Amino acid sequence: MIEIDRLTVRLGGQTVLDEVSATVRPGELVYLLGRNGAGKSTLLRTVSGITRPDGGTARVNGRYLARQCRPLTEVGIHLGADAHHPGHTARRHLHGLADAGGVDRRRADELLDKVGLAESATRRVSDFSLGMTQRLGLAAALLGDAPTILLDEPVNGLDIDGIRWLRNLLRELTAEGRCLLTASHLMDEVARTGDRVIVLDRGRIIADAGVDDFVVGHASLEDAYVAAVGGTTHGH
Ligand SMILES: Nc1ncnc2c1ncn2[C@@H]1O[C@H](COP(=O)(O)OP(=O)(O)OP(=O)(O)O)[C@@H](O)[C@H]1O
Ligand SMILES: [Mg+2]
Repeated sequence: MIEIDRLTVRLGGQTVLDEVSATVRPGELVYLLGRNGAGKSTLLRTVSGITRPDGGTARVNGRYLARQCRPLTEVGIHLGADAHHPGHTARRHLHGLADAGGVDRRRADELLDKVGLAESATRRVSDFSLGMTQRLGLAAALLGDAPTILLDEPVNGLDIDGIRWLRNLLRELTAEGRCLLTASHLMDEVARTGDRVIVLDRGRIIADAGVDDFVVGHASLEDAYVAAVGGTTHGH
């Protein structure tokens, strides 16, 4: 469960999130949509407890994560720019996270297999391709078996097998009753897997609706999205 209440974040003199309120319930996959710079990653980072809000609150499973150390078992996070030691192997990286989070190393090994990295487990992370790095980040997000999962554009860089695998994984995770909040620009994936969309525009929520309701009156989710953000101009 994620409960976001009037969350405000200012960065570099700019209001990046402006009184954002939203709830993501167990069993729901909610996609964050919006133009480049709209505030999606900032919202995920703030809910994760990485970025401190200037106002409002974000609770995960009823707790304020910023005040504790984001237990792996509470929230699974894959926000792209993961801090990993480039000289470490994938296995060593995941084992380190497992040790720090009090998770059995065998779970890390199982996950390397699950994300398709079993054969690359002893390769250095610095030698990984974009897609392999994404897979490793997903393994890290799944490590603690957390009920709440935050993902920032997890499909980027995945090959077709990876995209199909991730699609199924997302469905599986929500069917298990987990709550997922995911930023994406890929309307096809959103339409296929999403339950609800939240559209951000310059740090404000301009739409929060079930995918089917959001599309009503439009030929596609992409059309509905373009109508919501007001055309395809590059104004920020
Ligand atoms: N550390 C920072 N200092 C100053 N400004 C920042 C910082 N981080 C983000 N911003 C600004 O906050 C705004 C929102 O950025 P954010 O990364 O959340 O956008 P986004 O919706 O994830 O975009 P994208 O689709 O490109 O990933 C942008 O204007 C960005 O320049
Ligand atoms: Mg982003």
